[in-house]
Amino acid sequence: MKKRVSKLTGWEIAALIGTIVAGVAALICSLRLDAAAATTSQGGAARTFSASCAGCHGQDGSGATGMNRTVAIPDLRSPVVQQHSDARLAAVIAKGTSQMPRFESSLSDPQIHELVLYVRELAHGK
Ligand code: HEC
Repeated sequence: MKKRVSKLTGWEIAALIGTIVAGVAALICSLRLDAAAATTSQGGAARTFSASCAGCHGQDGSGATGMNRTVAIPDLRSPVVQQHSDARLAAVIAKGTSQMPRFESSLSDPQIHELVLYVRELAHGK
C-alpha cells in the first residue's frame, strides 16, 4: 500500500512538471509573438490585428485558421485582396460583409486605416 502511494505521487510529480513545462513554453511563445508585433512599424495595428482579426485570418493573414472549415477566409496577402484600394479594404473592415463582422463600432477610423496599412505589410512578408 505504501509503495502504491509513492508511485502515485511520482506520477503526480511528472504531471506537475509536464504542466509547468507546457506553461513556460506557452509563455515564451506569447512573448515572442508580442516581440514580433512590436517590431513592425504598425505596432498598435499589429496588436489590434492579433486581438480582433487573427482569430479568423491567422496572425500572418494566410487565413489558415480553424475558421476555414466553416467559412472561406481569403489570404489577406493574396493579389485578390491586395488589388483592392485602401478605401475598399477600409470599408470591408468598417462595414463587414455577409461573412465578416463589422468593426466600425469597436475600432476608430485611424485604427482601421492602420489595419489597412498592416494588411499591406503582411503581403510584404512582415
Ligand atoms: C469572423 C471571422 C473574421 C474576423 C474576426 C475578421 N474577418 Fe476579415 N474576412 C473574413 C471573411 C470570411 C472574409 C471574406 C469576406 C467575403 O468574402 O464576404 C474576410 C475578408 C477580409 C478582407 C478582404 C476584403 C476584400 O475586399 O477582399 C480584409 C482586408 C479583411 N477581412 C480584414 C480583416 C481585419 C483587418 C479584421 C480585424 C479588424 C478582420 N478582417 C476580422 C472573416 C473575418
